[in-house]
Amino acid sequence: MPSEKTVLCIGAGYVGGPTMAVIADKCHDYKIIIADINEEKINSWQTDELPIYEPGLLEVVKRARGRNLFFTTDVNSAIKEASIIFVSVNTPTKTFGTGAGKASNLQFWEKTARNIVEQAESDKIVVEKSTLPVRTAEAMHRILSSNQKGLKFEVLSNPEFLAEGTAVKDLQDPDRVLIGGMGTPEGEKAIQKIVDLYASWVPREKIVTTNVWSSELSKLVANAMLAQRISSINSISAFCEKTDANIKEVSKAVGMDSRIGSKFLNASVGFGGSCFKKDILNLVYLCEYYNLPEVAKYWEQVVLMNEFQERRFVQKVLVNMFNSITEKRIALFGFAFKADTGDTRESPAIYISELLAEEKAEIAIYDPKAIENAKFDLAGLDADIDYCSSPYTAVENAHAILIMTEWNEFRDYDYKKLFEKMKKPAFVFDGRNILDHKKLYNIGFNVYPLGMAPLTHV
Ligand code: NAD
Ligand code: UDX
Repeated sequence: MPSEKTVLCIGAGYVGGPTMAVIADKCHDYKIIIADINEEKINSWQTDELPIYEPGLLEVVKRARGRNLFFTTDVNSAIKEASIIFVSVNTPTKTFGTGAGKASNLQFWEKTARNIVEQAESDKIVVEKSTLPVRTAEAMHRILSSNQKGLKFEVLSNPEFLAEGTAVKDLQDPDRVLIGGMGTPEGEKAIQKIVDLYASWVPREKIVTTNVWSSELSKLVANAMLAQRISSINSISAFCEKTDANIKEVSKAVGMDSRIGSKFLNASVGFGGSCFKKDILNLVYLCEYYNLPEVAKYWEQVVLMNEFQERRFVQKVLVNMFNSITEKRIALFGFAFKADTGDTRESPAIYISELLAEEKAEIAIYDPKAIENAKFDLAGLDADIDYCSSPYTAVENAHAILIMTEWNEFRDYDYKKLFEKMKKPAFVFDGRNILDHKKLYNIGFNVYPLGMAPLTHV
């Protein structure tokens, strides 16, 4: 019989890796195994070059690795060994067939469920960590119950709310931990086991238990509402540019209303990341499926507004650079979808590079952590792209700098030195509103922030 305190996580990605490393770090009496079919990834989890960049993660991994944290590609043996199995595989948007472009592609998730049934030799608690459509737990339960071995599986939902770049902090001190169960006595017992695991370090009042469907839906809704705030403020940034109102001032004044709150009101070139768009589109798909077209349209608008903001940004570049950027070198500062990560999934920089390529601009990209991912994302793009190892190389003979990511280091560069290397007139389009615009203007740049009046010499 496997030990009650052996936990397996299937999927060693951005969620599975950090989540399980923090659990291992906090719960010395549990054995934590992370399994993945990707051998390269598992190998790098066992070195100091982790497969993902997250501040503070290496220290956490190093403390637990080899003590009570183990990595393996032998998923089958790990299934046999564990009593609790977290499933944290990827659930991207479907690109084919019914629901293409909106619904979740559940093939990786279903393969995992079938693998658990095949390999298990004892009862298990299976915990959905991946973000999944509402009622997926029910489907998981049906697949698992199809076993002919008389084994019992309890399916729980425990969605993850960590944000990339702050994953370790979010896991060590979460706003809440959500655990949904089936409402049966066995389900309640299983919930208690997962509550006990988290209660090793999370205050009990922050651990919320619900029915399994509320838990699945809450995850989609949390992401939809966070993204909705960004689309709301981005829509107002466009309005500010027409009226000389200032988006930072509006954002501050609005956010000071304690009912609204100040977070997630930074105007930007657009939200990116592997979750927001995917999860909203999944919500839209589910609303359509349950015949709620008005609700579906309401949420879809959040994604459409984001696409508008990205296009609007490139239009602004084009119009202000005399309606032509053909063969002009444009330096992109940042390619990651946000600061403190190398992740570029759904980064606005990808779409913006495509639009710049359509205009036949020469693109120079610098990012402190995401250059390799940028190369991968733009591999098929017919464009003149220079991947640079420093911002100073990127601006060599460039006409403009476009701030794509809010990396802190971008604030501190010697912009006078950068200006000297550039063609004149030199432009800065600050897609994150992080720079000192007045200072840049005084150096000689023509500065175009978001949602604020430009500062221009031409
Ligand atoms: P990821 O792509 O980084 O990792 C998923 C891993 O699962 C991959 O390494 C893949 O090789 C592995 N995998 C797929 N099928 C497998 C199988 N059959 N057996 C073993 N391993 C398998 O994805 P992620 O970003 O970690 O996201 C995982 C889930 O968590 C998704 O549902 C996502 O929506 C959700 N989520 C992500 C974040 C985030 O910030 N990235 C935050 C909260 C929730
Ligand atoms: C998000 C959710 O925050 C997290 O709870 C969930 O588990 C996964 O999805 P993540 O995508 O990693 O996390 O990062 P997040 O900080 O939410 O940023 C998403 C995007 O929105 C980034 O492109 C970011 O730059 C952008 N953003 C964020 C803004 O444009 N303005 C803001 O005010 C905040």
